[in-house]
Amino acid sequence: MGREVLERLAQRLAANRLGGGQDKIERQHEQGKLTARERIEQFLDQGSFEEVDALVEHRCTDFRMGERTISGDGVVAGHGRVDGRPVFVFAQDFTVFGGSLSVTNAAKICKIMDLAMKVGAPVVGLNDSGGARIQEGVGSLAGYADIFLRNTLASGVVPQVSAIMGPCAGGAVYSPAITDFVFMVEQSSYMFVTGPEVIRTVTHEEVTKEKLGGAMTHNSVSGVAHFAAGTDTECLAGIRRLLSYLPSNNAEQPPLLPTTDPLDREIAELDGFVPTDPNKPYDIKKVIRWAADDGEFFEVHEHFAKNIVVGFVRLGGRSVGVVANQPNHLAGVLDINSSIKGARFVRCCDAFNVPLWIVEDVPGFLPGTAQEWGGIIRNGAKLLYALAEATVPKVTVITRKAYGGAYCVMGSKHIRTDVNLAFPTAEIAVMGPQGAVNILYRNEIQRAPDPEAERARRVAEYQEKFANPFVAAERGYLDEVILPRLLRRKLVAAFTLLATKRDFMPSKKHGNIPL
Ligand code: HXC
Repeated sequence: MGREVLERLAQRLAANRLGGGQDKIERQHEQGKLTARERIEQFLDQGSFEEVDALVEHRCTDFRMGERTISGDGVVAGHGRVDGRPVFVFAQDFTVFGGSLSVTNAAKICKIMDLAMKVGAPVVGLNDSGGARIQEGVGSLAGYADIFLRNTLASGVVPQVSAIMGPCAGGAVYSPAITDFVFMVEQSSYMFVTGPEVIRTVTHEEVTKEKLGGAMTHNSVSGVAHFAAGTDTECLAGIRRLLSYLPSNNAEQPPLLPTTDPLDREIAELDGFVPTDPNKPYDIKKVIRWAADDGEFFEVHEHFAKNIVVGFVRLGGRSVGVVANQPNHLAGVLDINSSIKGARFVRCCDAFNVPLWIVEDVPGFLPGTAQEWGGIIRNGAKLLYALAEATVPKVTVITRKAYGGAYCVMGSKHIRTDVNLAFPTAEIAVMGPQGAVNILYRNEIQRAPDPEAERARRVAEYQEKFANPFVAAERGYLDEVILPRLLRRKLVAAFTLLATKRDFMPSKKHGNIPL
C-alpha cells in the first residue's frame, strides 16, 4: 500500500514536471524561451527551490481535453534563496493553456504572496501568460482581483519584482504594473491590455506586437518597464542583482557589502570635469561611477526620460539610490516623464530604507504648451512631493545649474535634505543669466547705444552676483562647497553619519501625492 502511494506520487510529480507536454516545451525552446521550471532553477541559488502546490489541479476542464487535467495548473510556485536570502517566486507555464490564469492557479500565487508578507521576503513573478483563462469565466477574473489586492497590500512592505518573459495580455499586465520593478525580455515578451487584433477591430490601427508592447516600447516610450534584457538568462541575473540593493522587507536595512575600494579615494579626473559654460553638456553617469564603490552603477529605467538618471550604487558598501539630472540629454531639464520617473524611484527607495543621493545640474522645468497641457504642474509636483516626503538619509550635490523651481525640487535644504554640497562650478539662481537679463534690463538694453554690448555687460554682472554657490553657502542653504575630487570621501562620510538617521511623517492615513 505504502509503495503504491509512493509510485502514484512519483507519477504525478513526473507528469507535473512536463507541464503542457513535451511538444509544447519544445515550442517554448524554439522561441528562445526557457520553461517555467528552468527559469526558477536559473534564478534561485542552486538547489534551493522548495515547490508549493505542485499537485494542485484546475477544476474547469477544457472541452478539447475531456476530463484530463494538468497537474500544477500552469504555474510553478514556491520559495528559495537569492544570495542566501529567502525569496518567493512564481513562474507561469505557457505550455499549460498559454500560462492563462485560472481560479486554482491564482490561489497558488496568492498563497505564496501571503506567506511572503508574513515572512517578510520579496516576491518575484516570472510572467508568461495569455491573461484570464477564458474557459473559467468570472472565476479567473476573481483570481486576478485577488492577486491585485495582495500586490497593493504588499506594496512598500516587501519588494515585488515582475519579469515579462512571453506574451502577457489582459490581467497578466496589471499585476506587474503594481509591482516595484518590471523587467522585459527583448524579442520574446509583450505587454498589452488588448492585442493588435482587437485594436484593428476597434480603432482600425495597424500595429505589430513588438511596436505595440515589445520590450523597447515599454522601456523607452511608455515607461511601463524598467529593464530590457537580451535573454531569459540575462533577465534572471538582472533580478538577482537588483535584489542585492534592497532589503528583504521595509523593517530591514539593505545588505551592507564590504568593499576594498578606499573610502577616501580622491577623484582627480573630477576637478575641471564639469564645464563652466552652462550650455556645454557632459555625462553625469561618469560622475556617479567615479564616486561609486568599484565604479559600479546599476541603472534603472535607462531608456526612459533620459534627462534624469536613476539607479543604485554602493558607497562604502551601503546601498544608495541615485537621482541625477543628465546634462547630456535635453540639458537635464525636468519634464513630465522625468518627474514621474524620478518620483517613482524616490518613493521606492524611501519605502525600502535606501538612502538617496541627488545630483543636480538642472536648468528648470521645460517650458511649452505640450508640457503645460500635459500637466507639468501636476507631474512635476510628484517629484517635489516624493523628495519632500522621503525620510531616508538624503544628500544633494549641486554640480552646476540649480535654477528656479528645480532648485527647490532637487533635494534642496528646505525640503529636509540632510547634507547639501556644491562644486565650485555651482550656479544657484531664479533663472539663467540670459533669461534674467532680458526681463530685468529690457528697457536699459533697448535704450543703450550698443544693445548687444549692454546685454553682455548685464549678463556678466548677473553671473558675478548669482551664478555661484556662495550666496546659498552664506545663508546655510549649502553645508559646504567642496573640491570635486573629494566627492567620494564626502559622500561616504555623509551616508555613514546618516546611517542612524530618524525622521518621521506626521500621523496620517496616507498622503495625497498628485497622481
Ligand atoms: C485560455 C489561452 C489563453 C487564455 C492563450 N491560450 N490565451 N487559453 N485562456 N486567455 C491558449 C491557446 O488556446 C493555446 O492553446 C495556447 O494557450 C497557446 O496560445 P497561442 O495563441 O497558440 O500562442 P501565441 O501564438 O504565442 O499567442 C499568445 C497570445 C494569444 C498572444 C497570448 O494566445 C492571445 O492573444 N491570447 C488571448 C489574450 C487575451 O486577450 N487575454 C485577455 C483575457 S481577458 P493550445 O491548446 O492550442 O496550445 C483578461 C481580463 C483580466 O485577462 C482583467 C483584469 C483587470
